[in-house]
Amino acid sequence: MPSITLNDGTKIPAIGFGVFMVPGDGTAYEMVKEALRAGYRHIDTAAAYFNEEDVGKAIRDSGIDRKDIFVTSKLWLQDHGYENAKKGIDRSLRKLGLDYIDLYLIHQPYGDVIETWHAMEEAKKEGKLRSIGVSNMTPKIWNQFVPQFEIKPAVNQVEFNPFFQQRELRALMEKDNVRLEAWYPLGHGNKDLLTHPVFENLAQKYHKNPGQIILRFELQEGAIVLPKSTNISRIQSNLNLFDFELTAEEMQSIRALDTKKGSHDPDAPGVAQALLNAFKIED
Ligand code: A2P
Repeated sequence: MPSITLNDGTKIPAIGFGVFMVPGDGTAYEMVKEALRAGYRHIDTAAAYFNEEDVGKAIRDSGIDRKDIFVTSKLWLQDHGYENAKKGIDRSLRKLGLDYIDLYLIHQPYGDVIETWHAMEEAKKEGKLRSIGVSNMTPKIWNQFVPQFEIKPAVNQVEFNPFFQQRELRALMEKDNVRLEAWYPLGHGNKDLLTHPVFENLAQKYHKNPGQIILRFELQEGAIVLPKSTNISRIQSNLNLFDFELTAEEMQSIRALDTKKGSHDPDAPGVAQALLNAFKIED
């Protein structure tokens, strides 16, 4: 699978398998094993997905060399602040059962982001985290924190799909050569997106499904995509994006679909507290 070189020199596979909301009761273990069998080499989890143990075990049991699998996890909001973040990083390493994490993100950029980032920078220097990045940063939050960071984030993982193209944010990120990672790359199964005539027509032309056209558009826009599926044939087909290329005109016709609206507003008041209340990570 094609890789992308991040601003710190690390290579990341352009397509990752996301395990958001996949229960850590053995279900995530089976799904990650399935994804690895299908050819995925990039797995995206988080402390707040409550499946780091399953993900780590699936990776260790896969028989694939550790260095050939790219693992992302994320620090939860309750672990912000310098000392808490250090503990949160060590907890993720322990639950995953791995010596290092390829990419670790600040999952929700609220509270003491600056001191949290210091702990992330230190863990990178110590080799516990190969690359460090952020998630869910809007332009407003980006401007508040990133200019103060010594090490710039390697990625910002945000909602991104043809209905929400994040142009203002991407212009800011480009200045520091920061890659966008796309969550909800298929609009979380939004039928208006997946059955839009633009994608149905292109799907016919290229003998692909509309989801593959959407993911291909995102890759050509420079994004790393994290499609989610519980269906084995779609898990496989979402990897099969490299035997065709959308033309400049086709890219333009998809760019025109931007509604500039996502599924929620991370800048809204009360978001941080609601998130903090929603998930509590145990040791
Ligand atoms: P399923 O699990 O039945 O495959 P997102 O990644 O944006 O969160 O979207 C995930 C949703 O998109 C899931 O409901 C998934 O359903 C569906 N999905 C995944 N891949 C495709 C595809 N290639 N075409 C259509 N729907 C897809």
